[in-house]
Amino acid sequence: MSVRIAPSLLAADFARLAEEADAVSAVADWLHVDVMDGHFVPNLTIGLPVVEALLRHARLPLDCHLMIEDPERWAPMYAEAGARSVTIHAEAAGAPIRTLRQIRATGARAGLAFNPATSVRPYAELLPEVDMLLLMTIEPGFGGQEFMDLVLPKIRHARELISAHGGEIWLQVDGGVSEETIGRCAEAGADMFVAGSAVYGSGDPASSVKALRELAIAAGRSAAASPPGGCPGAAS
Ligand code: DX5
Ligand code: ZN
Repeated sequence: MSVRIAPSLLAADFARLAEEADAVSAVADWLHVDVMDGHFVPNLTIGLPVVEALLRHARLPLDCHLMIEDPERWAPMYAEAGARSVTIHAEAAGAPIRTLRQIRATGARAGLAFNPATSVRPYAELLPEVDMLLLMTIEPGFGGQEFMDLVLPKIRHARELISAHGGEIWLQVDGGVSEETIGRCAEAGADMFVAGSAVYGSGDPASSVKALRELAIAAGRSAAASPPGGCPGAAS
C-alpha cells in the first residue's frame, strides 16, 4: 500500500502560506487545506480566493477538505479552480452523489469525510462515486487536538469495505496524527495521513514529514506481515 503524507496548512503561519507550502514541497505528496465556514464547524479559516492564490504558488497538489455547510454550492468551484482533490462531509451533504460527480467531472479526485461519530456503513454503496474516504480522528474544527483511538475500528472497517469494493480508493485519516499515532492508523489500514501540528509545530517540517512517512511505511509493512484479526470489536 502506498503511503501519502499531506501536511495541513491549518498549523502553518497563514501570513506566509506560500513559504510554508514550499517547506514541505520536496518531501510531502499533497498539501491539505482546511476550509471552515464557522457553521459546519465552530471555526473560520480560508475560502476560495486564498485557495486560488495558493494554487498559483504551491508545487504540491492541493487536497481541499471542506468543513462547510452547503457543499453542493461550493465544492465544484474548488475543483474547477484547480484543487486536485476536494472532500465534502457526509454530515453536510444533501446531495452527495451529485456533488461527488461534479467534482470528478472536473478531473479532480472526490472525497467523502466522516466525523468520528458518523458510521461509514450507510455510505458503502457510494464507494463507486469516491476516490477517497476521510475519517476524522478528532472532532473537526481545530488542529492540535488529541487523536481518538476509538476511530481505529472504523478505519479497519473502511479498509475492509474498500477491499471488498475492489477499487482504488484512498483512506485518509485527519486529526492528531503524529509520530506517536501514525503507526496505529497505518496498521488499521489508512494510506493517506494528514498532519498539521506534527509537521508545522515541530520546528523542522520537512524532517517531520520524512519521519512520519517512515513510521507509516514500517507499520503498514508489519501489519501486512501479520495475520488479520485480534482487533477490538467496536462499532464501526
Ligand atoms: C481539523 C482539520 C485538520 C487539522 C489537523 O478539523 O481537519 O486537518 O489541521 O490538525 P492536527 O494534525 O494538528 O490535529
Ligand atoms: Zn482537515
